[in-house]
Amino acid sequence: MLNNINNVFKGSVFQTKEYGTLEYLDNILILVDNKGIIKNVIEKENEYYKPIIEEATNKNILVELSESQYFLPGFIDLHIHAPQWPQAGIALDDSLDVWLNECTFPLEAKYSDVNFAQKVYDDLVKNLVARGTTTAMYFATVHHNSSLELVKSCINNGQRGFVGKVVMDNVEMTPDYYRDNSTNEALLDTEKFIQDVIKLGENVLQGVYPVVTPRFIPSCTDEALYGLGKIVKKYDAYVQSHCSECDWEHNYVKSRLGMTDTQALNKFGLLGEKSVMAHCNFLNEGDGEIFNQTGTSIAHCPISNSYFANAVLPVKRLKKQGVNIGLGTDISGGFSPSLYDNIKQVVISSRMLEDGVDSNISNTNRGVNDSRTSVVEAFYLATKGGGDALKLPLGIIEEGYICDLQVIDINASKSKLPNFNIFNDKKHLLEKILYLSTINNIKQVWIQGKLVYENN
Ligand code: GUN
Ligand code: FE
Repeated sequence: MLNNINNVFKGSVFQTKEYGTLEYLDNILILVDNKGIIKNVIEKENEYYKPIIEEATNKNILVELSESQYFLPGFIDLHIHAPQWPQAGIALDDSLDVWLNECTFPLEAKYSDVNFAQKVYDDLVKNLVARGTTTAMYFATVHHNSSLELVKSCINNGQRGFVGKVVMDNVEMTPDYYRDNSTNEALLDTEKFIQDVIKLGENVLQGVYPVVTPRFIPSCTDEALYGLGKIVKKYDAYVQSHCSECDWEHNYVKSRLGMTDTQALNKFGLLGEKSVMAHCNFLNEGDGEIFNQTGTSIAHCPISNSYFANAVLPVKRLKKQGVNIGLGTDISGGFSPSLYDNIKQVVISSRMLEDGVDSNISNTNRGVNDSRTSVVEAFYLATKGGGDALKLPLGIIEEGYICDLQVIDINASKSKLPNFNIFNDKKHLLEKILYLSTINNIKQVWIQGKLVYENN
């Protein structure tokens, strides 16, 4: 019965297949093959339930959760700057332009040193995996070799990684000590990087992928942006950038190009099914329509936005327009490597958008009506929304999907979640897990059917 099955997972699952709808699967069996793909999900009522448990036990391939443990799908971080990990929590009292020029660019310039890169990247990837992040889409730096170190860190730690060598060639908006040598070199380096990542990933089960990465419009020339658009087409590559993040950036693009970031990125050939744009706080209705029509996804970074964006992403409006949205930590615009923290902030920020924040304004004019995002919706953004953005079968436990799991223990010794037998329904339990879990509650992390992390 279990031919070609590597593992049988037995336990209860929380997931959300449709935006806003929570599903709880009680003590199911998840059958996973040697490629890490879910072959079958068996419910308790199924006639084969008991025989499968018996056979899996005999073959020593049963992974059985205890009473206090639950499976969640692995989280997907759609936007994170790996080189900024040493800067997490630093200088967040400054504005984005000051923060970039005084802290971030000097730090990122240090990644010309491959040994330094290797040390930081390995530490970051380990920290993310320990927080249940099974897939991440990373910005590295302008440096070819150290950006490849990030790919190697993902491979070595078993994490699925999407990695971009950053392009910044505009002499007007980048410091002398940190930019591409020329537009032409930036384009050639991007192609070489794509080829090298494909080579590195040839035998990597969980997958590593190159990403075309213009940092944002201000740091790139039009020529580079056009050139990158052509490269995207040639390789059918993933693309990432920042889009309409904050007032100064959004206004800079309008005055330089006479259009919004979205219109410009589309013109350069950088929007499409495999594009993930970070922030997007200033998207108007027309921009939302372009995102919808091109199949471009948004990486919502709510913690970072609280510091730098001057606005809250209108998640509800954009979802109504049909735009797909996932979540990003935006280390280190966001200080936290945890998507749990960002799930909470999605909800909190949306409530501030809906209610408004200035009590001097009457409550009828204070906020933007009908703007709230629920915690179950935020859970979708961290899982299925991320998988849809990457066009991979990720984010839910279902036949044909990739088996990425976190095991949550609500009775973990250093972090027992409050349980006084009052709030016992499953939705309350998930809410408690999402709001109160710490790193201590994450007992195991499985990526593509492989155990990559265990917290004993
Ligand atoms: N825009 C361009 N670069 C960055 C960055 O590193 N972080 C954020 N938050 N915004 C950016
Ligand atoms: Fe960012």
